[in-house]
Amino acid sequence: MSATATARVSAGRPARRRIGVGVVGFGWLGQAHTRSLLRIPTLFENRVFDAELIACSDPLPARLDQATDSFGFKRASAAWESVINDPAVEVIYIAAPNMVHVPLVEAAAQAGKAVFCEKPVGGTPEQIARAANAARTAGVISGVGYNYRWAPLVRYARELIASGELGEITNYRGRFFSMYGADPLGLNSWRFQLDQAGYGVTSDLMSHAVDLAHMLLGPITRVSGTLETYIRERPVPGDGAGHYGRGRPEDPRTPVTNEDYAAMLCTFASGARGTFEVSRTMIGPESEHAFDAYGTRGAVAWNFERLNELRLYRATEDPGSGYTRVLGGERFGHHGAFVPGSGNTIGFEDLVTIEDYEFCTAVAEGRPFEPGFEQALAWAAVQAALLRSAQSGGWEEVRA
Ligand SMILES: NC(=O)c1ccc[n+]([C@@H]2O[C@H](COP(=O)([O-])OP(=O)(O)OC[C@H]3O[C@@H](n4cnc5c(N)ncnc54)[C@H](O)[C@@H]3O)[C@@H](O)[C@H]2O)c1
Repeated sequence: MSATATARVSAGRPARRRIGVGVVGFGWLGQAHTRSLLRIPTLFENRVFDAELIACSDPLPARLDQATDSFGFKRASAAWESVINDPAVEVIYIAAPNMVHVPLVEAAAQAGKAVFCEKPVGGTPEQIARAANAARTAGVISGVGYNYRWAPLVRYARELIASGELGEITNYRGRFFSMYGADPLGLNSWRFQLDQAGYGVTSDLMSHAVDLAHMLLGPITRVSGTLETYIRERPVPGDGAGHYGRGRPEDPRTPVTNEDYAAMLCTFASGARGTFEVSRTMIGPESEHAFDAYGTRGAVAWNFERLNELRLYRATEDPGSGYTRVLGGERFGHHGAFVPGSGNTIGFEDLVTIEDYEFCTAVAEGRPFEPGFEQALAWAAVQAALLRSAQSGGWEEVRA
């Protein structure tokens, strides 16, 4: 490019900070974040950072080859320490199985690096508390992968609730039904193992459902819940097998050691009452991550399977007309970065891209990011109460 062209391109746009990125865990979400970072320059012209892919770590050699050959990382190694201690790496993305999150977070925080960890940030409430403490003590910026918060229509629902348009919210229903474990031949991958995932669907799915409720309605104060494991043995997985992989009837099986299903009643600090249900084995809904909020003047409902639609009921307008359908489009949040107009749809990985854009913007500007580990900790307190309630059979207070 000529000197004149360079001057023309840079005129009028904000200065950009270079951010060196390291990724640990290069399966589904490690790759999704990396793809997102790669395409941010093509989507967000006014960004204040340019992410540079420096180093990647995964125990599987094939994933390391992919990281350098297809994604363009400069270096890749099975030793995660080499990513965290790489002087060119300023931000660490953690997308390894849950039970290895905390040592990685602690090492990244001690090295003074900003850290984005996939949810739930550790496989138990105690581990989430350790991670939050490490980031707080080191004073580093933290982020957590509650990507559904970034759905433009979910943010619109938050605006409707916060502005009082729906009146006082009295009732809330959250749910996440994912069929990834519904087939008994589904492999016994890390998600089904207490020593690798920590808890099962409470960590994997309820964390998302409660995080959205926290964002929309505020804190939960009491819960009464129940857990169940329906499929108690599954075929042994091979290296790198994911939770959508299938075995054969003749394959050897090992026990499932965490829960398939969880449900709870709850009370919010606002006084609203809520119900939550999550499952990986129920047959029917493939990926129904959904909520309904019911207020004294209206209601709002969203379902990830219909990410680009919001159902809205305004009691003040035409009470007999039922819910109306609001279509996603460029008038909502970052939707227009991906597709123009209205009714042109965005998808799962676009939410990850918005999340990464917002996180790296916060890092470049040196300010805190939400959801960070304090929000992960708010979920951990609810999870601890749910686990106690499943044991005691009664209501349990959510304790900080
Ligand atoms: N936000 C979301 O919507 C969402 C969706 C899926 C997964 N996740 C989270 O992302 C994380 C990863 O899940 P996934 O579905 O990508 O799993 P995955 O199995 O597809 O990938 C995990 C990767 O981590 C690697 N790994 C295993 N042990 C490691 C170690 N000690 N150090 C470094 N890497 C290691 C594996 O080889 C694999 O490549 C989990 O915490 C999960 O909860 C979040």
